[in-house]
Amino acid sequence: MASISQLGYLGLGVTDLPAWERFATGVLGLAVGARGSDETLYLRMDEYSYRLALHPDHSDDLLYVGWEVADAQALRAIAEQISAAGVTVREGSPEEAKRRRVVELITFRDPNGVASEVFYGPLIAPDPFVSPRPMSGFETGPLGLGHFILVVDDFSQSMRFYQDALGMRISDYIVEPFEGIDTTFGFLHCNPRHHTLALYERVSPAKRLNHFMLEVHSLNDVGAAYDRCTDHGVPFATTLGRHTNDHMVSFYAVTPSGFLFEYGWGARTIDDAVWQVQLHHGESIWGHRPVGDSEPQSQAVTQPPRSH
Ligand code: FE2
Repeated sequence: MASISQLGYLGLGVTDLPAWERFATGVLGLAVGARGSDETLYLRMDEYSYRLALHPDHSDDLLYVGWEVADAQALRAIAEQISAAGVTVREGSPEEAKRRRVVELITFRDPNGVASEVFYGPLIAPDPFVSPRPMSGFETGPLGLGHFILVVDDFSQSMRFYQDALGMRISDYIVEPFEGIDTTFGFLHCNPRHHTLALYERVSPAKRLNHFMLEVHSLNDVGAAYDRCTDHGVPFATTLGRHTNDHMVSFYAVTPSGFLFEYGWGARTIDDAVWQVQLHHGESIWGHRPVGDSEPQSQAVTQPPRSH
């Protein structure tokens, strides 16, 4: 089976672009790579010309997902798998490829209607990534930009689709009470990053995107970002903690669009040759306590929503 190789880019629709620019550069430590003629802000975290594209848009949610494959042959194989899963695939035009700064892409909608693209040949910036904040940098390369958590309409259907169509593999499951309901979170990988995508089901989701995660090279980078959140008045969603499944030390806070981001370090990776699917009850070994909630257990989190 063909598999996507990594999460290449995310397109986000944001209402307050100036606030996002201050947040992305001043708190997350991302660099502005370019500005589109339509005001789209392209943000860098590595050698790619961008990893996050912020579009002026009132959705304040995920606009599209860019999945990367190695080359044209892999793109054809993935396109066939998506079609075989019963989903219509469209070849992207040269103009669309140019806009996304890739050699070639295909487009489709996932079972939840999320605009999705598979591409190869990302534009590489000639100059090295330099963060506007003093930090050691982001874990990307073959692991991709990070991970994100998608709220889906039908958990089983989406888990099946991402395995059958995109070739992703199950890492593990977390089952825990969430917003008052026993909820199953499914974690999927496509490279050694423990999970690139996680899914959970929620009726009538307010937003598709629960959070995106950026992983950094050192624990100091996490601590410094935690301090920057305090300095910039960014609302925390949790304290620092370590997750049960990927072992990441991280914290969650709120983006200017209302959905969350996770900033972490130290996750374990997956070797498909030996990995066995696991089940966890609860998402954290320690920490990740909700901020602004008097209940001591993270399971009591109801506002804002989060998952791993
Ligand atoms: Fe996460």
